[in-house]
Amino acid sequence: MKKIKVGILGCGTVGGGVYTLLTKNRSVIAGREGLDFEVVQIADVRAPKGIPAKIRSKDAYAVINNPDIEIIVETIGGVKPALDFVLAAFKAGKSVVTANKELIAKEGERLFAAAAASGVSFLFEASVGGSIPIIAALRNNLAANQIKEIYGIVNGTTNYILTKMTEEKMEFSAALKKAQELGFAEANPTADVDGYDAAYKAAILARVALGAEINFKEVSFEGISKISLSDIRYADEIGGVIKLLAVVKNSSAGIEIGVRPTIVSKKHPLASVSNEFNAIFVNSDAAGEQMYYGRGAGALPTASAIAADLIEIARSSGEPIGLPEPKIFKRLDSNESMGRYYFHLKVADKFGVLSEIAGILADQKVSIDAVLQKETSNNVATLIIITHEANEKNIAAALKQIGDLSVVKSVKNVLRVGL
Ligand code: HSE
Repeated sequence: MKKIKVGILGCGTVGGGVYTLLTKNRSVIAGREGLDFEVVQIADVRAPKGIPAKIRSKDAYAVINNPDIEIIVETIGGVKPALDFVLAAFKAGKSVVTANKELIAKEGERLFAAAAASGVSFLFEASVGGSIPIIAALRNNLAANQIKEIYGIVNGTTNYILTKMTEEKMEFSAALKKAQELGFAEANPTADVDGYDAAYKAAILARVALGAEINFKEVSFEGISKISLSDIRYADEIGGVIKLLAVVKNSSAGIEIGVRPTIVSKKHPLASVSNEFNAIFVNSDAAGEQMYYGRGAGALPTASAIAADLIEIARSSGEPIGLPEPKIFKRLDSNESMGRYYFHLKVADKFGVLSEIAGILADQKVSIDAVLQKETSNNVATLIIITHEANEKNIAAALKQIGDLSVVKSVKNVLRVGL
């Protein structure tokens, strides 16, 4: 039986989950894999409950430099101080497993290079989709494929909020509060609600699926804070549901990496992914369309992915596991990025308004698919316009001009329509 001693940095929900899983299923893993994992030390500035005092430490470097420990699990989150600890672990010759999507999205290339230089493994399955083995699927099982596109519901908090708004007509703030109570929202809701968390994950997916060098500043992202119950209702009327999608698209014109709220057709499998669940839809040239579904957050689901990385490292018998060198891809510019759009406008309810808006769209070569006029109050009407495929640059120019019209009171929202 191969014995592997593990140290954990950070004992919050995820770190505590790793300790619980490795302890609870120690004999299961040993029986299945012939690998005996033991958590010998855990560093946390607090004194976490449920962890025996003899393995607790307040000093991360004591764990990193503990000569018994072979693999470090980093579950602190955020860039500082996690980055310093991970680099120190590599220097000490330790392999590292992390769930830290922000760290990889912001410092990934530096870390992959440092791990390779030290001849150690660096794995991060839990950083995208929690329990869902999407990184392994892209790295291993789909390695013979050219990945064409990935659409992921990779943030459980926003998916939970959008589901509650859709199914229970719950207001945004009440749904967010519930998600926080259930423990899958980030401590700072901005990371979830404004799309940062999903954007980190989009950058990681693009790195693994395409080898695209991670440059987080180039990921365009948007969250869900502008979505109202009326957007949800109008999306429903046109046969869709609003989902926050991480998007990675690869075409001969360039790659697109981003996050955007999108009206997804109710017929698409991603539309039925509800509550805090995550799913990643992958379209590749040989395997075709696949969808990976499961729990994207939580103590044991995330620990399950971390334990899988630990097992992979232990199985590799010292051969370092990492990613190949990154490639620089041309980014699709807004001239080349095509999509269908939903505009939610508040306009004066009088003659000529529609023709002014239609004129601007025609000038910008944006073709209209549907127009719905909804509620009118105090002579202000709600106008919903769905466009055919148009390029992003023309859409932006048209919106600017539409917003400047004196008859347009406000542009309440603009969403992608697709899938
Ligand atoms: N806050 C994240 C989510 C947790 O809601 O999905 C997992 O990264």
